[in-house]
Amino acid sequence: MSGDKIYIFDTTLRDGEQVPGSKLNTRQKMEIAVALEDLGVDVIEAGFPVSSPGDFEAVMEVSKAVKNTTVCGLTRAVENDIEVAGRALKYAPVGRIHTGIGTSPQHIYNKLKTTPEEIIRRGTAAVKLARNLVSDVEFYCEDAGRTDNEFLAKVVQEVIKSGATVVNIPDTTGYCLPEEYGEKIKYLMNNVDGIENVTISTHCHNDLGLATANSLAGIQNGARQIECTINGIGERAGNTALEEVVMAIKQQNLLDFHTSINSVMLNPISQLVSERMNMVVQPNKAIVGANAFAHSSGIHQDGVLKNRETYEIIDPASVGAGESAFILTARSGRAALNYRAKKIGFDLDLDELNNAYHIFLEVADTMKEVNGEELEKICTSIYKKARAI
Ligand code: KIV
Ligand code: ZN
Repeated sequence: MSGDKIYIFDTTLRDGEQVPGSKLNTRQKMEIAVALEDLGVDVIEAGFPVSSPGDFEAVMEVSKAVKNTTVCGLTRAVENDIEVAGRALKYAPVGRIHTGIGTSPQHIYNKLKTTPEEIIRRGTAAVKLARNLVSDVEFYCEDAGRTDNEFLAKVVQEVIKSGATVVNIPDTTGYCLPEEYGEKIKYLMNNVDGIENVTISTHCHNDLGLATANSLAGIQNGARQIECTINGIGERAGNTALEEVVMAIKQQNLLDFHTSINSVMLNPISQLVSERMNMVVQPNKAIVGANAFAHSSGIHQDGVLKNRETYEIIDPASVGAGESAFILTARSGRAALNYRAKKIGFDLDLDELNNAYHIFLEVADTMKEVNGEELEKICTSIYKKARAI
């Protein structure tokens, strides 16, 4: 395989689980973690161990449940957080501590009420402590999206010197435009000594609906890890959707990048997460929404029936979504009606199809969708008239 590998860091069980009303218990976290490993993610962020005894237990049990995947625990740049995370990760095949601190003016002055110098001091101390416990330490510069690039470069350089192996550049508030976020990564790549020895990670929130675009801009400018969640769930408007970045990389042959994701698992894991977290996937959600491969207008249906690629850039089977669906509505045409009729055993000739289509339009105008039962009634009445059965 040519081109660079993009590492997929899944944070469904941590940032994703911060969605109100979607809390998972340890058993559910283990079930999803095993599914994430089967999907082929490189890192599973399993929780924030110091936040509660339940999350500590979950990180520990996920560490035991997976075989090869790196398991990650989040911490603040606080000694006790880091020590607790180290203990929770004791059984992980590879354990990663994800520590960090806010770097934007909003975080430094409003939230932490401190100084830029103190941010660097706390950040580097956190990395050094974490490196005593595990060999894989990721540092996040919280709100990097609103952090001045020059100061950000200083922080990144210092944490690399202190032993960080991965540096995360979160657009915590979903503030950046793709070009701006890409420029930020490029600036770091060009201005931080030793950056070639670590992995730069994207972590984009979706407040402006730009998380996927920003993550892709990040990798086009030097980042090699994307942090994301199944179905794009997460705080507020959510995180980068795993299924979107993975398929964009695959479909567009983006700079020849590749991931380890087994794409046929994308729809099954989307459903699993949706069910366990009690969060409905919006029907028009890319890749995993119920309508992602459904066609309802006559023009589109006719085009897809002649050649699927007329209106589909992804084969639904390749993402575990079965086959394209043809929804019968008052906008549908004869081609889709005939296709759906055949699927339930009616082989209509041209006259029968025309007659069925007239009845169908009358019925369709009275309802949002003509379902299989209605269709069967229409076809049976046509057969009865034309074939005297
Ligand atoms: O959005 C964010 O900045 C985060 C960090 C804690 C990594 O989730
Ligand atoms: Zn986040």
